[in-house]
Amino acid sequence: MQKTLLNIFIIILLSTLSSLLPAQTVAEDECMNCHQVLDDELLVPAQKYVTDVHYSKHIPCSGCHGGDSKSDDMDIAMSKEKGFIGVPDRSVRYEVCIKCHANEETMKKYDSNLPVNQFENLKNSIHFQPTYNNVGPIADCVTCHSVHDIKQVDNPKSTVYPTKIVSLCGSCHSNANFMKNYNPALPVDQVVKYKTSIHGKMNLKGDPNVAECASCHGSHDIFAVKDSRSHVYKTNIPEVCSKCHSDSKLMTKYNLPSDQYSSYVKSVHGVALLEKGDLSSPSCNDCHGNHGAIPPGVESISKVCGNCHVLNMELFEQSPHKKAFDENDFPECETCHDNHDVVHPTDAMVGVQESSVCTDCHSSDDKGYVVASNIKELLDSLTTEDKETKKILEEATQKGMDVSDAEFSLKDVRQILIQSRTSIHAFNMKKFKDAITPGFKIISKSKKAGVDAIDDYYFRREGLGIATLIVTVLVIGLYFKIRKMEKKKNRKT
Ligand code: HEC
Ligand code: HEC
Ligand code: HEC
Ligand code: HEC
Ligand code: HEC
Ligand code: HEC
Ligand code: HEC
Ligand code: HEC
Ligand code: HEC
Ligand code: HEC
Ligand code: HEC
Repeated sequence: MQKTLLNIFIIILLSTLSSLLPAQTVAEDECMNCHQVLDDELLVPAQKYVTDVHYSKHIPCSGCHGGDSKSDDMDIAMSKEKGFIGVPDRSVRYEVCIKCHANEETMKKYDSNLPVNQFENLKNSIHFQPTYNNVGPIADCVTCHSVHDIKQVDNPKSTVYPTKIVSLCGSCHSNANFMKNYNPALPVDQVVKYKTSIHGKMNLKGDPNVAECASCHGSHDIFAVKDSRSHVYKTNIPEVCSKCHSDSKLMTKYNLPSDQYSSYVKSVHGVALLEKGDLSSPSCNDCHGNHGAIPPGVESISKVCGNCHVLNMELFEQSPHKKAFDENDFPECETCHDNHDVVHPTDAMVGVQESSVCTDCHSSDDKGYVVASNIKELLDSLTTEDKETKKILEEATQKGMDVSDAEFSLKDVRQILIQSRTSIHAFNMKKFKDAITPGFKIISKSKKAGVDAIDDYYFRREGLGIATLIVTVLVIGLYFKIRKMEKKKNRKT
């Protein structure tokens, strides 16, 4: 007896509660109610739909398919008059999604603050071109988000959740037969390479914080990589990596520093690429790879720098440092130049004074120390003599002497200095001397030309002085002579 009363009470309570729910409750979705008792592909959507984010927002089947979800009569419910569209055609099925997702007001009605720019972005992207067999865009909302079991994007079950997205993008991008219909030149190895990187390995282990396809390429606004709007266009890359790598909270979890971006933007490379727009300067991916092995192992670091600084690398590889650095596990170029904070090197880097990098490892009783000291002496002496010679030539020019030939050949000293600084990387005194000696020869010739010109100037000036004196004496003499002759003439008359 008591049990029945309790049951009646519960039923009354439940029905009061349900009448308090918003008008469009799923319980009233007659489309779903009827489809739940049908078979096969009429049933499957209804079965799946209970896990869909739209279901949890009380959106009935008619929210996408149209029709009247309040009628249990299939002829009324699925009538054209009630706006039923049936199964939307593949080529335009995205239109059912953007009815809401491109409309801020509609989304507000569902208490949603989600951005409404997905279609705007997708429309211009490389994926919104027609398919080769013309059944609609290459990829649309349903291709990536599925349908009837759509999840919030931060739900681990979502098709676009970081640990799922690699197989989503890979479903096309690893399929050579499919991809060749569009762009046969496009590689299809991104997933394979990605799996060898630290990002890929951690992603495979289920870590959602590492970079995956969409964190680097974007999701709706994906462009060809050579398009300047692409997230991975050379000048945009540093920002993309920085999203995570400058996040100190995230990076401490992995025991990683978070200063790569801030160091890079100040470096010669960062300034050249981002401020001067010099596309030959490296972005993060030129050193770290796009999808592949990240970071370059100690062995390949000099190879990375050497892709561009070919001569420095060749010299380094033949130098005594190559073997010594390998044995000691010192990274190569980076040991002296740093990796992200590469600055413009000056002569202060070499030598035995405090600012030199050489004294980090060499001390006064070894050969490296002596070589470092000699290199610096020669560099200093050439630059000082270069300056002095320039002054001498300037003085000559000011005095009106023509020293343009000497000035012209002095320009070669600048080139020789550049080559000598490169030749330091042989870390060999003889090779350095071979590189710098022609500089001293040019200077001594130019200097001589300058000194001669100035001597010449004084010589001519002296000559001019004497000549003027003689002329003046002559003129005065002549003057008196004339006066004398005139006086004589006057006296006669
Ligand atoms: C009383 C049962 C019933 C109700 C209510 C009902 N359906 Fe159906 N629905 C069916 C049956 C049966 C079919 C298959 C026969 C047909 O296509 O007419 C079907 C077919 C469909 C199809 C596939 C059509 C096609 O062209 O292949 C869609 C989509 C669909 N229903 C959606 C809805 C939506 C949306 C609603 C609510 C507005 C709804 N149904 C209400 C029974 C129902
Ligand atoms: C968020 C929008 C959306 C909602 C809500 C939705 N559908 Fe669909 N439905 C679609 C789209 C889009 C397609 C076409 C899928 C395709 O092209 O593969 C589709 C396809 C179908 C099909 C064709 C068979 C199939 O699986 O492709 C049926 C039947 C169907 N829906 C019934 C339903 C029923 C019943 C409900 C409610 C339980 C429902 N849909 C809710 C968007 C929706
Ligand atoms: C009737 C309006 C409506 C239609 C039609 C609609 N959606 Fe939604 N969608 C919503 C609302 C409302 C939410 C929940 C928003 C929220 O939680 O802030 C949502 C959520 C989503 C989410 C989860 C976003 C998140 O929070 O991470 C995805 C993905 C999504 N919809 C995709 C689609 C796709 C794909 C289609 C077409 C097949 C579609 N929607 C059709 C209204 C709609
Ligand atoms: C190429 C795959 C792809 C396509 C096509 C695609 N999406 Fe997405 N979408 C994603 C990914 C990945 C995310 C999650 C990452 C993010 O937040 O950008 C996402 C996120 C979303 C979200 C969550 C809010 C947001 O903007 O982050 C909504 C809503 C959504 N998509 C709707 C749509 C709609 C509507 C369409 C069709 C117009 C669509 N998507 C087409 C991949 C795609
Ligand atoms: C860490 C960032 C990053 C991740 C993660 C990433 N990419 Fe890339 N992707 C790039 C860069 C950088 C390029 C090359 C840009 C260039 O060549 O200028 C690129 C190039 C591409 C290209 C053009 C063809 C090629 O291989 O050069 C495709 C397609 C591509 N990625 C797809 C993917 C897919 C699919 C995934 C997921 C498995 C993915 N990417 C993951 C950064 C990334
Ligand atoms: C339905 C298949 C499909 C899916 C899913 C897909 N793509 Fe694509 N994607 C393509 C095709 C086809 C192209 C080539 C279009 C062309 O070149 O005309 C392309 C082009 C690209 C390009 C431009 C390559 C270049 O430089 O020309 C990038 C980058 C890219 N996709 C990344 C992604 C990412 C990231 C994802 C996952 C979020 C993804 N794709 C999902 C089919 C797909
Ligand atoms: C979505 C966030 C995210 C983005 C975007 C991202 N990374 Fe990472 N990356 C991580 C995380 C997290 C780790 C740490 C993984 C670990 O050590 O287990 C990592 C690890 C690395 C490592 C290995 C560090 C080490 O020595 O362990 C390198 C190198 C790296 N990323 C470079 C890049 C570059 C270059 C880019 C841009 C092209 C980039 N990352 C974009 C999150 C990201
Ligand atoms: C000129 C080449 C170069 C450029 C450009 C470059 N890196 Fe590096 N990066 C390196 C080298 C070399 C290492 C050291 C690798 C080692 O010791 O194994 C490194 C190490 C890293 C590490 C591991 C942690 C650390 O700091 O040692 C991360 C993360 C990283 N780089 C991210 C980036 C990001 C993000 C950018 C762009 C803002 C970038 N790198 C630009 C060469 C470069
Ligand atoms: C993608 C090509 C590329 C890679 C890889 C690269 N560099 Fe550079 N580097 C350049 C360019 C271009 C400049 C000139 C920038 C400028 O205009 O000042 C430069 C400048 C420099 C300079 C300054 C030269 C000067 O006279 O001011 C040093 C030092 C340097 N790089 C060292 C390195 C090291 C060390 C690495 C490896 C960790 C490296 N680079 C990797 C292209 C590269
Ligand atoms: C043992 C220290 C050391 C190592 C290792 C080293 N450098 Fe240098 N680097 C120097 C010094 C010293 C200078 C010259 C500074 C000056 O006199 O202006 C220099 C100058 C440079 C310059 C500017 C001059 C020029 O050649 O244009 C570049 C670029 C450069 N190094 C690249 C590299 C690369 C690439 C590597 C790796 C293959 C490397 N360096 C390895 C010490 C080093
Ligand atoms: C990171 C440590 C380190 C730095 C910095 C360094 N060296 Fe070395 N160097 C070595 C080691 C180790 C050897 C091999 C052992 C030895 O002969 O001292 C070596 C050998 C040499 C040698 C060959 C010596 C011989 O016995 O033939 C010369 C020359 C040399 N270094 C010059 C320099 C110059 C110049 C600089 C500065 C631009 C420099 N090194 C910076 C570690 C370093």
